[in-house]
Amino acid sequence: MILVTGGTGLVGAHLLFKLISEGEKVRAIYRSDKSLKHTKNVFSCYSKSPETLINSIEWVKADILDIPALTEAFKGITLVYHCAALVSFEPDKYHQLRKTNIEGTANLVNLSLSHAVKKFCFVSSIATLGNTLNQLPITEDRIWNPEEDHNDYAITKYGAEMEVWRGTQEGLDAIIVNPSVILGPGIWKNGTGKLFKKAFKGIKYYTAGTIALVDVEDVVNIMITLTNSTIKNERFILVAENWHYKKFITALSNAVQAKPPKKLASKRLLSILWRLDWLKHQLTGKKDNSPSISVRLYTLKKITAVKK
Ligand SMILES: NC(=O)c1ccc[n+]([C@@H]2O[C@H](COP(=O)([O-])OP(=O)(O)OC[C@H]3O[C@@H](n4cnc5c(N)ncnc54)[C@H](OP(=O)(O)O)[C@@H]3O)[C@@H](O)[C@H]2O)c1
Repeated sequence: MILVTGGTGLVGAHLLFKLISEGEKVRAIYRSDKSLKHTKNVFSCYSKSPETLINSIEWVKADILDIPALTEAFKGITLVYHCAALVSFEPDKYHQLRKTNIEGTANLVNLSLSHAVKKFCFVSSIATLGNTLNQLPITEDRIWNPEEDHNDYAITKYGAEMEVWRGTQEGLDAIIVNPSVILGPGIWKNGTGKLFKKAFKGIKYYTAGTIALVDVEDVVNIMITLTNSTIKNERFILVAENWHYKKFITALSNAVQAKPPKKLASKRLLSILWRLDWLKHQLTGKKDNSPSISVRLYTLKKITAVKK
């Protein structure tokens, strides 16, 4: 039987759909009934009877930090797809990010070892690869440079990768995928789905630089192919294309039939908006929500792929 974590998130839900469509026996962990709606919304993109599909999965209520509940979920498991993570760029989430992403992954690695799991597939991020030096392309061999200015999310995803590599030293066969920004249908309120919502409201400016993108269906197909192959203990960067922000935001706007931005945001404007965002966060605890800057903030903090 296969265990999936993060099945109420974008990647996990698309992965669950693919696995059950292929007739696999799947168990998935979830934390709340409310989140299961996300999985149902993703399934609705592909099927007219999402409820039946949801019910074909064995759902176990467990947090990845709750070892007794996780131990229950591991009974009879031979393959693990670990998609659960906290994806956040809020400065005050560092400890929560460390707990969920590093400690949570360590728990899954340890249980996979003690249950003699055959293959462990971990969804990391290109955030763990750092920035390009001298415009050279980044490859899977890139070594983490602690001197670089990494965001908290990247640090904790790197820490999670270290737990997986530690597991491989203790006998676990693992695959790590490092996707860029993942786009896909079904979840519009969270994660990258929010970008479409922002585009719908109207984005005034585009910014310089590029963004690396990949389709969620490609991500899950690659995960399944690698996990079912004899390849082990390697990582794989998943990037379909690098687009200039102008092209990306225009495509987003066109997709939701909104007006695309015509103006390039100057460095000066961006630096003012960064400061305003910081001030707003200090005063209210909330981050800036304006579409023009939030796309930039989101992508700037998240993307560390090759910049042109
Ligand atoms: N989306 C991207 O652009 C992107 C790019 C590169 C890498 N990634 C990586 O891909 C993976 C999946 O991302 P995503 O976009 O699908 O994320 P997402 O939509 O934010 O979903 C996160 C999932 O993790 C679960 N989760 C969080 N904390 C948990 C905990 N303590 N215990 C159990 N489950 C927990 C969430 O459950 P609840 O529903 O209960 O909150 C949800 O199912 C993550 O590892 C992320 O780092 C994502």
